[in-house]
Formats: sequence, C-alpha cells, structure tokens
Amino acid sequence: MRLHFHGHACFEIEGDEGRILIDPFLSGNPCATVKPEDFTHLDGILVTHGHDDHLGDAIELSKQTGAPIICVFELAHYCKSQGAKTHAMHIGGKHQFPFGLVKLTQALHGSGIISPDGEMIYGGLACGFLIQMEGKWLYYAGDTGLFGDMELIGRRYPIEVAMLPIGDNFVMGVEEAVHASQLLRPKVVIPMHYNTFPVIAQDVGEFLHLLQRRVPESQGKALKPGDLYEV
Ligand code: NI
Ligand code: MN
Repeated sequence: MRLHFHGHACFEIEGDEGRILIDPFLSGNPCATVKPEDFTHLDGILVTHGHDDHLGDAIELSKQTGAPIICVFELAHYCKSQGAKTHAMHIGGKHQFPFGLVKLTQALHGSGIISPDGEMIYGGLACGFLIQMEGKWLYYAGDTGLFGDMELIGRRYPIEVAMLPIGDNFVMGVEEAVHASQLLRPKVVIPMHYNTFPVIAQDVGEFLHLLQRRVPESQGKALKPGDLYEV
C-alpha cells in the first residue's frame, strides 16, 4: 500500500481495496501540496477530532466524493448536520469497511468544533486510529499527549507504521514521541504535526537521532509534504 503525506497531519492511504484520507486539512494548510478539488474518488475520510487542522475539508470532500466521514459519534452528528455522509463509531470499537478495518483508539486531546459563526460546538472525544489494510496494521495516533496504554496497543497489534505527532505545545513533543515509539514498537515511525506553524516548529533531525539511539528496532522516516512511502 502507499502512504502519501499531504502536510501537517494529513495522509492519503491507497491500498488494494481502496483509498482513504486521514485528517484532510488542505485549504489553509500552508504546506499542503494538493487541493480538495484534486480528489475525485475516496472510500473513506477518517477524522480524529473537530479542530480545524484535522476536520479541515472533510465535509466538502464527503459531498464531493460521496465517501463517509469516519469519526466519533458526536463529531459525526455535526458533519451529518452539514450535509456530509458519515459513519459514526467510538473509542474501542472496530468496523470492517470495504477498504480495510478501522478501530478507534483513545487520544488525550480536545475535540471542540468552531462553527462558521464562531461558536464552540461539542465534538465528543478526540481519537486515534488503528487501520488494517492488506493485512498490515497502521497506527495513526492523532493529536495526543503520551499515554501509558500505548504499550497495550503495541502489545496487541504488530504495528507496521506508526504516525506520531512531534510538534509539542498541543501534542507530544520530540521526547514524548520517542517514548511513545518505545511503547508501541512499530517497524517504522513517521513524525507528523510539526513545522506547519511557528508554534509547532521542531527539529525533526533530533527526533530521528533520538529514535535511532533509544529505539533502534524502529526506523524513523520523515516525509516532506507530497512524499510517498511504500509499505
Ligand atoms: Ni487538535
Ligand atoms: Mn492539531
């Protein structure tokens, strides 16, 4: 399968059974290399939480492609009210979609949605995703702080690729993301959610260096917006 990084925390994953987009923050993303209009076919749009830099263009993309937004119940309710197609789930639950299996994991983060008129709408809990495609497990942590149950996730699922935030301030920083890798024990770690804005500027080289030193069994792979990674 192919992982296509579109900047910030947006990944497009294309497998034998379908194509999905995760946290499609494209309009207003200073490092995105694609536009929402570029997507004509999608089988699922996975959204971790209601913040702008994750919900992004999900609603428009759902209307444009007919793909369901896959997210927690509360956020799904909002997306549906805005005319999107949705598939509501919740943390701990899994569902087999035509493109692959999706399981929602916990994330330590908020999920308020800012409505078009500036009101804060309740979006439920933020989540992460375990995704199984072509028999391989991917872990997309979403926006989260470090939590000890990452060890449980690592013990229960042989993770091929873990996508972890390293930007600090809103999410884990470099140190915590290295510790998270230790708990998750994935073959490959792709850092995300850094350098999009000044407040989340990070030295990705430092992350890769620390990872190599402390978690030699996991390989760090930093992708630039637009990069493709074959799993
Ligand atoms: Ni967030
Ligand atoms: Mn974020």
